[in-house]
Amino acid sequence: AAVVEHTFNVGGMNISQLCTDSVIYTANQQLPGPTIEANEGDTVVVHVVNDSPYPLSVHWHGIFQLLSGWADGAHMITDCPIQPSANFTYQFNVTGQEGTLWWHAHSSLLRATIYGALILKPRNGTAGYPFQAPFGEIPIILGEWWNKNVNDVETDAHLTGLGPPISDALTINGMPGDQTPCQGAGVYEVEVASNETYLLRIINAAVNVELFFKVAGHAFTVVAVDASYTDPYATDVIVIAPGQTVDALMTTSAPPAWYYMAANVLDSKTVPIRFNTGTATGIVKYEGAPNDTVASSMPAMPAHTDVVTAGTFYWSLAGLVRPGDPLVPAAVNHSMLVEFGMEQGPCAPDQTRCQGFALVASMNRYSFQFPRNASLLKAMYDGLPGVYSEDFPSSPPPVPVASKATPVKKVMYGDVVEVVLQSRAYSGVLGTENHPIHLHGFNFFVLAQGLGRFDPIMAEGAYNLVNPQVRNTVVVPGGGWAVIRFTANNPGMWFMHCHLDAHLPLGLAMVFEVPDGPAPNLLPPPPVDYPICY
Ligand code: C2O
Repeated sequence: AAVVEHTFNVGGMNISQLCTDSVIYTANQQLPGPTIEANEGDTVVVHVVNDSPYPLSVHWHGIFQLLSGWADGAHMITDCPIQPSANFTYQFNVTGQEGTLWWHAHSSLLRATIYGALILKPRNGTAGYPFQAPFGEIPIILGEWWNKNVNDVETDAHLTGLGPPISDALTINGMPGDQTPCQGAGVYEVEVASNETYLLRIINAAVNVELFFKVAGHAFTVVAVDASYTDPYATDVIVIAPGQTVDALMTTSAPPAWYYMAANVLDSKTVPIRFNTGTATGIVKYEGAPNDTVASSMPAMPAHTDVVTAGTFYWSLAGLVRPGDPLVPAAVNHSMLVEFGMEQGPCAPDQTRCQGFALVASMNRYSFQFPRNASLLKAMYDGLPGVYSEDFPSSPPPVPVASKATPVKKVMYGDVVEVVLQSRAYSGVLGTENHPIHLHGFNFFVLAQGLGRFDPIMAEGAYNLVNPQVRNTVVVPGGGWAVIRFTANNPGMWFMHCHLDAHLPLGLAMVFEVPDGPAPNLLPPPPVDYPICY
């Protein structure tokens, strides 16, 4: 096993995109940021130097952080942010994970421009991929672009109480492509050889939108999601929510030419609003193809509102079970029903452009408030009172309105937790859209999902306890539900939240507290340069 070491200098970068010159904040002047590539078993060390004017935390999305919870980078959950002009070194081991993950800023909207791929390859000397070794690999990082400074976008969202405006463009590997007026920064292009198989590592780093992705004239075989292998699944469209990754094989057996790849928005809202975000494009160029055969045609994209195609993709995947893989734990220690949704709350005094109401999101009627003076993990470690309460309810209380608080659900080390994630939109409340719910620190089995209100009797027979898909981010359908199960075998404070970034400051989040155990002091003390709060 090796040590993979990087330095990320996070600072301002000049960019011209969509006919607009702006300064954005990136790692090492790159959009997307640097790719981290490691083998299973390696240690990853990233020195983050914050040369931006904003407090910053960087999260390694999907990494288990086994006994390294201090490095999870969840702003105010596992650490206080790195202050401007300060540094912090994140260090963690890659244990039992292969496939594609990613990293992103986890403080404010900075993750719109501070993100990159985290590629985990099988350990040297092992059997390697459980599919034909690809001839080449193609990273596809999908993103979302605002012409305006994203911190101003976020401030505006707060002042109005209504969430951020629709982004100005979608991007593929940082570029909107040639279907967007004034693309400026260009089009992502990749050269391929004929009749070979490529592994596409697709990441949805977009801030607020689920996406469809296609390549004209080509089909895919999905082999992994969220760095967990799947049963091979054939499809010509990839559906991917913010936070998720999809590894898909693509064989270049079409006539040698140039082909468009494209990504556009899936809008699951009952009243769709995102039609005009447009389509991001890139080009797959066959070697030796005459260069005037420009992308014969665009792939036929599903309609923006095609929730059926999306649901088919999300629900059809199954996990690949290999000898030695963890089985679905049979006995459950904590069975929870977590209802979440949006409602209209009062305008806060500092919401100066709020008219009549501000949006509030909640889980089991608690609208999550970030602590101000200490991270939850440090508070747990030091036994600091008053930072959080341990009373997150296991089922929704019958109170009419959301209250702002910082409750956590405490479970013991090694406990098996089952959560029914229920979108409250079944009852016609606000926010009738899909929500990608992400859990830090653990993968979970997705045992079942459905529309409407969860019914335990109906659902029980539908649980897949044999080869469910394994994920860190599951899309809960608007007005529907998903059942997840995981083993809390890692001490720490683990955030669970909607990965539509707009919903995080509104409170669509909760935290699992897993105290140290069973031997005392399994969790080492915080690193010496661990950022403290001011
Ligand atoms: Cu990808 Cu809490 O985040």
